[in-house]
Formats: sequence, structure tokens, C-alpha cells
Amino acid sequence: MSTLVSFADFPRMKLLPEYSLKQVINLMQKARQAGEDIIDFGMGNPDGATPAHIVAKLHEEIENPRNHRYSVSKGIASLREAICAWYARRYSVTLAPDSEAVVSIGAKEGLAHLMLAVLDQGQSVLVPSPSYPIHLFAPIIAGGRIVPVKLLPGEDFLANLEAALRSEKKAGNAPPRFLMLSFPHNPTAEIVDLDFFRKVITLARDYRLLVIHDLAYADLGFDGYQPPSILQVPGAKEIAVEVFSLSKSYNMAGWRVGFVVGNPALVRALEHIKGYLDYGLFQPLQIAAATALNGPDDCVHEIAQVYYNRREVLCDSFAAAGWNIPRPKATMFAWAPIPESHRHMNALTFAKFLLERAKVTVSPGSGFGEYGEGFVRFALIENEARIQEAAERVRAALRE
Ligand SMILES: Cc1ncc(COP(=O)(O)O)c(C=O)c1O
Repeated sequence: MSTLVSFADFPRMKLLPEYSLKQVINLMQKARQAGEDIIDFGMGNPDGATPAHIVAKLHEEIENPRNHRYSVSKGIASLREAICAWYARRYSVTLAPDSEAVVSIGAKEGLAHLMLAVLDQGQSVLVPSPSYPIHLFAPIIAGGRIVPVKLLPGEDFLANLEAALRSEKKAGNAPPRFLMLSFPHNPTAEIVDLDFFRKVITLARDYRLLVIHDLAYADLGFDGYQPPSILQVPGAKEIAVEVFSLSKSYNMAGWRVGFVVGNPALVRALEHIKGYLDYGLFQPLQIAAATALNGPDDCVHEIAQVYYNRREVLCDSFAAAGWNIPRPKATMFAWAPIPESHRHMNALTFAKFLLERAKVTVSPGSGFGEYGEGFVRFALIENEARIQEAAERVRAALRE
């Protein structure tokens, strides 16, 4: 069909490159259509079912016609209360449901619209590289600029952060206004302790930064590690918000439930812009999400255990196949340096090589930012037998 306009005519589209993971996934889909059996570690899309008591609550509430109307974009009161009770129970953090909590349509939507609400044109945001793509692109969609901060295994991230701030100053750029963080980290699985967040808050005060922390992997800590909340730092609420998602902890990725809590001005800005954009999640989803957060938490521990078991099998079987993958202390990912023998390939070429020769899909690290080059990410969304099978296939491909 002829058209007077093309996709490339829209300037903002040029700022949003196609995800490199999407390129690999397109190739995977073609291979599957051709009848290939592909083992998929690509997207962080949980493969497990949502716990039965949460699904049952959705069923019950969906029958009630009162729940079929527009809801409230900031989230219904009982869900915001459940969110605040969750923080009090887990982190001893006190939050006001009316002014310090807003429900979002998944963490991704919350992050993107928060940036749109609060970032001025041209203002800059410090973001780790590599990072989960929306952390890098929410500021860009909002008309801002990214200042990447190297996040590499074994490097002192806070030192890199200060170095980035100094070099911005030296370049004569306006000081960054926001710092976007997320620990446990996707894609690198880096973890931090509460002392790290204390230092972040002190540094943010010194540099007049507002902090956005994404705690999507709050429940996926292993070997006794429990991810802290940045809001546990006394006074953090004065300059920080935290984002959470029910996608991973409760296998609710398709439900699209997240929230943003903490600093009341930032929360209010998100609530305000959302008031223009949406009418809130379908109410039965919100009610079922409150059920999830109110517990019991056994299902969350079971989900974490599945990822732990898969991590063990992945690291052991790939090590036996000649590829040493560091054992992640948290998240549903493993961040793997390209094996020595294949370092002449970049991450995208190597991911395509694995797909073609081993029939295994991984995410190229470069898709998460410039400092992700040289790595690929495994999402632990295949069962243990399939992980072992993948290790065998990869062993053969690496030896070719
Ligand atoms: C750090 C991080 N934040 C947020 C999300 C997505 O959350 P949601 O499904 O609530 O949009 C992901 C998904 O992979 C993630 O890794």
C-alpha cells in the first residue's frame, strides 16, 4: 500500500533503535517455524503459572459487575494499603497509602511515565550501562539525555558514578538531575547491600540528584542474600522513589501490575500524568494484586527456589561444557562473558552463532548498553533438563 509517510519520518523513532534481542528472537521464531527445537534463554519472561490463590481471587472479582467500570488511575485504596503494608512488613518502612504510593501498569509503564512527568527537555539522567532497556530509554522518550555509568563486574560502581559526575561538570554540561538504579541488577545480576544505598543517598544529596530505584528482583536473592530497599535508608524518601513489579515475584508478568512508592512529589507527579493517560488497571487485577501482596508468601519462596535450582544446573552444566558462567547471587539471569575462544565475535554475532549452531537463544549484552558488549545474558526460563541439554549443545558448538 502506498502511503505519504514512513516510519523514519518521525524523529523520535530514530532515537529508539530496535532491541537487538528482538533481532535474535525474530531469528528464533523463524527457526521454530521451520520445525527447529530452540532452547530459549532470551527474554526474562517467567514461564511459571501465577499462584492459584491469586488467580482464584481474579475469578471471583471478575464476576462482580461493579468491577467492570473505569477504575482509578492511581490504584484502588485497598491495593495501595497492601503495598504500604508490604513495605512495613518486609523493610520496616512506613509509607502513606494516599500520598506515597501509586499503582502502575507494570514497572515499565511506571518508569516511563514518571520520566515523562518529571524530566525537563535536555535534562540528564545517570543510568548504569548495561541496564534494562527502559532505564536507558525512558529518559530519552521524555526528551532527556543519558549519562551512562559503567557497571562492570569487579569495578567500583560508586567510583564510576562520581567519575561520570566529574566528567559532566568538566564538559560544562548542566548537572544531571536524576539517578536511575536497579539492584539486584538486570542484566548483570550485580547485588548491593544497604550500606551501598546509604552511600548513594549521601552522594545524591551532595549532587542534588533525585533517585529512582527499581527493585523488580526483591524476592529473587539466593544463598541467604536478601535484597535491601533503598527506602530503608533514613531520610531516603526526601529524594528517592522505589519501583516494584509483581511480574517476577508472583509470575504475574502478563497481568501488568507494578507500583512506585516513596517521595511524595515524585509519586504525585506520576499520579498526575497518569490521570491524563489511563483509568487504572482493570479492577479485578488490582484486587487480586492486593491478595498477592498480602500473602501468604510461600508461593514467592517456591518461585525463587525454581530460579535457584536452575542457576545451579546452568552454572554447573555449562562449566562442565567448558564455559564458566559466574553464579548469580540474585535475579532470574546469568551474565556470561563470551568464552575466550569466541571473543573475536561481538555479542550479537555470538548470540546468532549460538542460535544457529546450538539452537540456543540468549540475549546479546550489547542490547543493554555499550558496556554490555562482550557478554550475553541467560534468562532462567527453561527447566533443568532443557538447561542441561542446552549445555551439551553449546559444548558441541564451541568445539566446532
Ligand atoms: C529491572 C526490571 N524492571 C522492570 C521489569 C519489568 O517489570 P514489569 O513487567 O512490571 O513492567 C523488568 C523485567 O524484566 C526488569 O528486569
